[in-house]
Amino acid sequence: MTQINDATLSTIPSPCFVLEEELLARNLAVFDRVQQAAPIRVMLALKGFSLFHSFPQLRTVLKGASASSLWEARLAAEEFGTEVHVYSTAYRAEDVPDILPIASHMTFNSLTQWEQFRSQVLNSTPHQPSPGLRINPEYSPVKTALYNPCQPSTRLGVSASQMGETLPEGIDGFLSHNLCESDSFALEKTIANVEKLFGRFLPQLKWLNFGGGHLMTRKDYDVDHAIDVLNAFHDRHPHIQLLMEPGSAIAWETGFLIGKVLDLIPINDLVNVMLDVSFTAHMPDCLEMPYKPAIRGARAPETGDTMYRMGGSSCLAGDFLGDYAFDRELKVGDRIIFEDMMHYTMVKTSMFNGVVHPSIGRIDKEGNFKLWREFSYEDYRSRLG
Ligand SMILES: Cc1ncc(COP(=O)(O)O)c(C=O)c1O
Repeated sequence: MTQINDATLSTIPSPCFVLEEELLARNLAVFDRVQQAAPIRVMLALKGFSLFHSFPQLRTVLKGASASSLWEARLAAEEFGTEVHVYSTAYRAEDVPDILPIASHMTFNSLTQWEQFRSQVLNSTPHQPSPGLRINPEYSPVKTALYNPCQPSTRLGVSASQMGETLPEGIDGFLSHNLCESDSFALEKTIANVEKLFGRFLPQLKWLNFGGGHLMTRKDYDVDHAIDVLNAFHDRHPHIQLLMEPGSAIAWETGFLIGKVLDLIPINDLVNVMLDVSFTAHMPDCLEMPYKPAIRGARAPETGDTMYRMGGSSCLAGDFLGDYAFDRELKVGDRIIFEDMMHYTMVKTSMFNGVVHPSIGRIDKEGNFKLWREFSYEDYRSRLG
């Protein structure tokens, strides 16, 4: 978190997502170190963070972008401009001709989808993406079912028993995505399971993508251990190009969502703070995960504190989170800063209730704010017809 002075603060519209470029540079330095010390190429998972104005900065370190659909693939090709790794839970036949010319790698979620598109991929000219399969490593440390790709009867990835004994002809690589905000020991266990369940295919593979969920930029992540684990895998299988495609870890703690207090409604033992931002529309993971985001200058209430409940701007009854305490009394017009709101926010927002959509901007390394995008009634209307 950088300190923002009042003069800069007054130039930021409300509400607004604000990327802090210096913090993004700090995260990129971690991935730079990993790529220097281990034979791995790191991609940006667009599903977690697609703020393309920041791609020139990300491109200085990351080797490409990974996409989950034609539209993300187009964004990657147009704005990232290097390798485009595409994986879709199920490709639409009408999208495939547009994906083929721009995908460097194209990963299939099932053997049936691979069979359906196999000859189209292998006969694609003048460019042919390197085909892969998503596998289910049957291990995930993720306890929340919503985020666990390896839950029983999962629809994500081919299991070892479905694979049979031979690698389907034409397949170059595997994608294993089974982590979420996980540590290096979960990566180690993933590798052990991939080797145990899919070891018979490894001699024929050209690449192996360990997906996302590697929270290498969290302060307690043991980066050296991850580097050791990756190097050890490479020693055992030196012919395999290693890849990973984190989203969260790249944008982790690199910016905030700033809103404003519109009204204060005291009731019983708390004060409802009515904001111009919404949890359901702008910070949906807070309700889905669920988790309580940090607010700059706020803390957990203690006895005697005024308890503030943060109320979102939609009329969804549950669009609120609490409770928070501040060292000052909140007033109408106060700015409220929700920390760490870059990943899985802008990519998931909605215009539910027609609530004003947060603008998007950045604070540069000199501490100046620049606005990238504002939204209007026309943006809201054009999505509906
Ligand atoms: C296939 C795949 N790759 C990469 C990611 C990015 O994961 P994260 O943002 O947790 O790093 C996801 C997230 O759902 C995913 O499904």
